[in-house]
Amino acid sequence: MKPRSWRPCHACRSRSSQNPSEDRIPVKISVIGAGYVGLTTATCLAEIGHTVRCADNDETKLNLLRCGQMPFFEPHLEELVLKNCQAGRLRFETTESSVVNAEAIFICVGTPPLENGEADLSAIANVARTIGQRATGDCLVIEKSTVPVQTGQQLKRQLQLYVDKGLRCDLVSNPEFLREGSAIEDFFHPDRIVIGVEREEAARQIEEIYRPLLDRSFHCPVHSDCKEDRKPAWVVTDTNSAELIKHASNSFLAMKISFINMVSDLCDAVGADVSKVALGMGMDPRIGPAFLNPGIGFGGFCFPKDVQAFVRIAEKAGCDFSLLREVENVNKRRIELFVEKVRKELWVVRGRKIAVWGLAFKPNTDDVRFAPSLEIVRSLIREGAEVSAYDPQATEKARAVMPDVRYCANPYEAAQGAEAVVVVTEWEEFRHIDWQRLRRLVERPLIIDGRNALDSKLVARNGFHYVSIGRAAVAAERVECGDREKIRTENAERAVQDIALEGLTRAL
Ligand code: UDX
Repeated sequence: MKPRSWRPCHACRSRSSQNPSEDRIPVKISVIGAGYVGLTTATCLAEIGHTVRCADNDETKLNLLRCGQMPFFEPHLEELVLKNCQAGRLRFETTESSVVNAEAIFICVGTPPLENGEADLSAIANVARTIGQRATGDCLVIEKSTVPVQTGQQLKRQLQLYVDKGLRCDLVSNPEFLREGSAIEDFFHPDRIVIGVEREEAARQIEEIYRPLLDRSFHCPVHSDCKEDRKPAWVVTDTNSAELIKHASNSFLAMKISFINMVSDLCDAVGADVSKVALGMGMDPRIGPAFLNPGIGFGGFCFPKDVQAFVRIAEKAGCDFSLLREVENVNKRRIELFVEKVRKELWVVRGRKIAVWGLAFKPNTDDVRFAPSLEIVRSLIREGAEVSAYDPQATEKARAVMPDVRYCANPYEAAQGAEAVVVVTEWEEFRHIDWQRLRRLVERPLIIDGRNALDSKLVARNGFHYVSIGRAAVAAERVECGDREKIRTENAERAVQDIALEGLTRAL
């Protein structure tokens, strides 16, 4: 196959059209692994004009994707996948066929934690062999999965074992920083794009792939009138440093969260307000306001495993990373500290009806992997509580790992007869609750907010006692005694009407 000239030809450069990416010669890209990183990367690279084959060794997932069904919920992803498939820029294939004639191959397979906390690199090794055996021309091999430092060097050695001697496979490390729930937005508006290379030419080649992001010559699929004109930083370094940037960034963010969680415990103990403390801290640009939200701890498929893997890497290299070990311990203790808050409010948990709002590890995703919410539900059930749970997106994923929980179709159904409503994921919809309707449904007007997501004054004004993290509890505003019995019967009557109404709407 004639090697590609990566330089956009002069003619292309001078000719400007409505869609600048149309001026460029699309790169034939293979993205291996259709998980959060892979499917998002493949879809967005197609959206900026490249021809992309996204591969996965899970045939069922491939068939679902070919029928336009997404394996997970991610805002904007479904419509972008459909759009680029219809435009012929995105296809789903097996790994073996996707690397044939590929000019650039992004490796986005999972690196789940092994028992000892190290990252499992077997999927990466398998992909290296397939690329080595099937590549038909010079190509870039781009490591995008989160991997321990020095993986790139191992990967290069693997490739050289299998690849046809006449071919050149340049290894590039290109760590991903997208967040679940805003992955598409993060792809199009990255703070920085980090590249680890061994050859200048490889850096220039991958720069061409990202050119539309660097020039900001694309139509933003997230914000209709996108005003964002900040260009991402283009960071070129060696592969080891690029790999470390990812682990260090995630571990630092996790440390920031454990730090503010630690401070929130002190605020609880001495009667201070952690949100004011975080506000004051965050105004210092050396600290910054981001990732200073206290709560029930960090979860998800990245922070817990990346912190663990980073500690293991360092220890193997003879370095003391006890600081990060403490970050993990602080995080683990969040569950018991929060359950203790529930216990303190309810006195007895056994036999109590508790509504759990939120199951996903964070809002705008259906991902429950390493979600603190699951540990809290398990802990409450172990103590004999009757848990009714609701999540706007993650119920099915939660049911798959925690089948013996009562899952509800909406927050009100979950709160029916509850002695406490416990908030564990800060979904936007919980901020727009019909508090009077909820007041009529609960047995006891008590909100325990594990994410400091709700407006304490609003909740109290609606007659709820409000408990949160690192802030003083807010008492429910008084309801006149004389009215109590009247309100109770009123509520019970209306509650019956609500359920009838609910049944009706669901039947419709
Ligand atoms: C993270 C990194 O942010 C992203 O750059 C990387 O590519 C992948 O890992 P993600 O796991 O999607 O992304 O979630 P993130 O938004 O970082 O939240 C991680 C966890 O920290 C969540 O459980 C969240 O609830 C928690 N968190 C986050 C806090 O408890 N407090 C905060 O202030 C921020």
